[in-house]
Amino acid sequence: MCGIIGYIGSKNSVPFLIEGLKKLEYRGYDSAGIAVAEDGHIHRVRSVGKVAELEKAALLEAPRGNCGLGHTRWATHGKPSQENSHPHTDCSGDIVVVHNGIIENYLPLKDKLQALGHKFQSETDTEVIAHLIEENLQHISAASDEERFFLAVMKTSDELQGAFAYGAMWAKTPGQIIGVKNQSPLVVGLGEGENFLASDVPAFLKYTSKVLFLEDGQTVVLTPQGAKVYGMDGQEVKVKPVKISWDQKTAEKGGYDHFMLKEIYDQPQALEDTLRTAEADFIRILNLKTEDLRRIKNVYLVACGTAYHAALIGKYYLENFAGVTASVDLASEFKYRTIPPAKDTLCIAVSQSGETADTLGAVKKAKELGFKRLAICNVLGSGLTRACGSVFYTHCGPEISVASTKAFTSQIISLYALAIFLGQASGNLSRGQFNTLYKELMALPKAVADTLKIEYDVRHLTKKVYKANRFIFLGRNVDYPVALEGALKLKEISYSSAEGFAAGEIKHGPISVIDKGTPVIVLMPKNHLFDKMLSACQECRARGAFVIAVTTPQGQEEAASVSDKQIIVPQASEYLQPVLDVISLQFFAYWVAKRLGRDIDQPRNLAKSVTVE
Ligand code: M6R
Repeated sequence: MCGIIGYIGSKNSVPFLIEGLKKLEYRGYDSAGIAVAEDGHIHRVRSVGKVAELEKAALLEAPRGNCGLGHTRWATHGKPSQENSHPHTDCSGDIVVVHNGIIENYLPLKDKLQALGHKFQSETDTEVIAHLIEENLQHISAASDEERFFLAVMKTSDELQGAFAYGAMWAKTPGQIIGVKNQSPLVVGLGEGENFLASDVPAFLKYTSKVLFLEDGQTVVLTPQGAKVYGMDGQEVKVKPVKISWDQKTAEKGGYDHFMLKEIYDQPQALEDTLRTAEADFIRILNLKTEDLRRIKNVYLVACGTAYHAALIGKYYLENFAGVTASVDLASEFKYRTIPPAKDTLCIAVSQSGETADTLGAVKKAKELGFKRLAICNVLGSGLTRACGSVFYTHCGPEISVASTKAFTSQIISLYALAIFLGQASGNLSRGQFNTLYKELMALPKAVADTLKIEYDVRHLTKKVYKANRFIFLGRNVDYPVALEGALKLKEISYSSAEGFAAGEIKHGPISVIDKGTPVIVLMPKNHLFDKMLSACQECRARGAFVIAVTTPQGQEEAASVSDKQIIVPQASEYLQPVLDVISLQFFAYWVAKRLGRDIDQPRNLAKSVTVE
């Protein structure tokens, strides 16, 4: 939800800002803007639409300055328009602000500022920040303009309520940029004679991998020479830079048409990287005396969207391997339902970004209930990792496409690893059982690489069905969440209507929507439920459905007798099969959307990280 970039150094900031915004575009893409300090005033360029539109406008207007801020927006307050695009300014136009998050008390602040004579140009909550800084500046005296601006920003942050991160700049002090973080992401990139402020690391990864992760309540003052971080009391705090191991190339398309396709192909590596640290990490996490996870009896899994589907699969793992009772909640529901307090309870929050507001809210509630908290997360230093006592990192590298793929499969295997390590530690699994499950897990990246070979077949068969306006996905047991995920992926990027069901449930209602030619994608690997899936195919076919069976070589022949088309994925152990099955649905969604000419990496109305409730 909105991306912020800031540059300060000896070069023209504009190319850095545009390039950074392109990397942040996954966070929002309905309008974009930049502002640079140019010869004692602010030069601002804004445009509706994607960063490419801004780039064209910036080429024409050619702003130039060594210090600048940029923003790509996902509208919350006010429709996407030129006036509502960031950066926003104060009355003089000399103070500019870019912001991610929501200022909850913006209406009373706006009333107060208007009464004091401030004139507003937009409908956004952000604009109050610029006017408030302007107002506060008038009442602050200090030895230098730099210090005055810093103190005015500190006072302003004090008056704001909500979850926000913002960058601010003043034409009078072109040698500094100020950033403030409060529950929305903001990181600092430390370069040589130049420094960056951004919502996420890929925005500046090409120039530096030395990163300062700010804590909530911290303010950073960037100059070309360095970055000083201050706590809420205005005292300087020392923050140690972290060297990021992400390869710049993982944040680029690498010859693929879309990030989504590249990220589907990243999966063998993502899984291998995630598994590399799994044993050591889970043994460490389970041995943490403060956490004492080995005594856990109940687990609540909380997550949103695709991560929620991974959590649904995790429930099967935790109950089956670890022998604990597990329930799964949509994070946005968990926050508002009554949960009885219970001893020895663990809340596992699953999130790629670690900044999803609903998931953070659920974890806050789990903390209030006295539950232990474990994050399964892909982003180092994100809000979620700080809100949980323990963290297990998936090592997917940056996931840029709005439609999540490699994060999903990495989350599944992380939950699998957690469940078997927990099962072993608690004695629920024998040594022999554990060894078998562990071996199967370690063999999975290779099976994933083999599964990728199905792309051509899937691409071919989508030719037949891509124009359908309704798709049904069916699965059972651990493949039921895969059916939900297949439907989510498809509707997210193709805008077609798609629903996932537990196969046994269709006869209780959903079968009525099946009509002549309705594509029904049935997940039916050869396992103990295979015969039930054969029946489901027949029931759908009898109503005219065009049945596509996703099966394994062992089930191919029988599946062919009850379906119109088959996608053959390798056979894995029953509990790991979802990882292979979902790849067929990722390709399916990709190729339907591609044939429909959709904007695959940046589908309409969506943003990668949903940082608002
Ligand atoms: O960053 P998170 O994993 O917390 O994000 C949760 C959902 O917003 C996310 O999975 C969303 O559903 C994806 N766009 C699905 O592809």
